[in-house]
Amino acid sequence: MSSGGGFGMLAGMEHENTHPGERMRSLIASVEAHLTRLKEDGVTTVEVDPDTVRAWSETASASPESPPQPIPEPAKGESPVSDPLDAIARRVASCQLCRLCETRNRTVPGQGAPNPDIMFIGEGPGADEDKQGLAFVGRAGQLLTKIITAMGYEREDVWIGNIVKCRPPNNRVPTPDEMAACMPYLKEQIALLKPKVIVCLGATAVKGLFDTQTGITKLRGQWMTFEEIDTMPTYHPAYLLRNPPAKRDVWEDMKEVLRKLGRPVPEKSKT
Ligand code: URA
Ligand code: SF4
Repeated sequence: MSSGGGFGMLAGMEHENTHPGERMRSLIASVEAHLTRLKEDGVTTVEVDPDTVRAWSETASASPESPPQPIPEPAKGESPVSDPLDAIARRVASCQLCRLCETRNRTVPGQGAPNPDIMFIGEGPGADEDKQGLAFVGRAGQLLTKIITAMGYEREDVWIGNIVKCRPPNNRVPTPDEMAACMPYLKEQIALLKPKVIVCLGATAVKGLFDTQTGITKLRGQWMTFEEIDTMPTYHPAYLLRNPPAKRDVWEDMKEVLRKLGRPVPEKSKT
């Protein structure tokens, strides 16, 4: 976690020692003081174990003093997620692990079928997604729907999610520390969903999963492996809206996915 969001997130906590929630606050205040000292000493990054971050967020959301948080409602026409996935969505709904929590309207945990053939991973919510609490429902999402149906699936058959669960202001690219803060949720989702194939939509999704600096133009179309799951990087649908000729490449990549899954490969896409 780098400075900035991490420090901002911990600000405003006071010392007091009565309830468990108060003890938690006092603990957080000590951590804050320690981090402030490190910052004054010129330290800009600290290593944080994802399990610790998870434990913090669970304790924080279990605290009786936490304000009630809105719980994302299942989408119209999209089935509610099964229990452990729902539990992740609830933790995401009250998450304050990075500064994106300050500007979001709704969290966007991702949605779709458990144990899907395919899990699509994008960058982060845009304005429409932030309004509705659902991944890929804006213009890029409509194009993704076309890609999914051209492949012989319905949106409800697959899982659709993002690297970060909260909208970056003005749709800027999420920073490395925001991606790192959010990654434990995605890893848990992947472990529960056990998709047969992951499709990374765009450079940010690939960077999030593989920590690579190689561009998407080089990586697309070639299988990678994330935690033993075959992963296909391809272009982001928002890029296809700006650059329609690249749809041909994405279709080649999706045919490769269908071959891997042993599914029928349509000759031509209608996207
Ligand atoms: N772009 C993304 O990367 N994700 C969304 O959910 C919508 C647009
Ligand atoms: Fe938490 Fe992820 Fe939202 Fe950051 S983007 S506040 S880590 S859910």
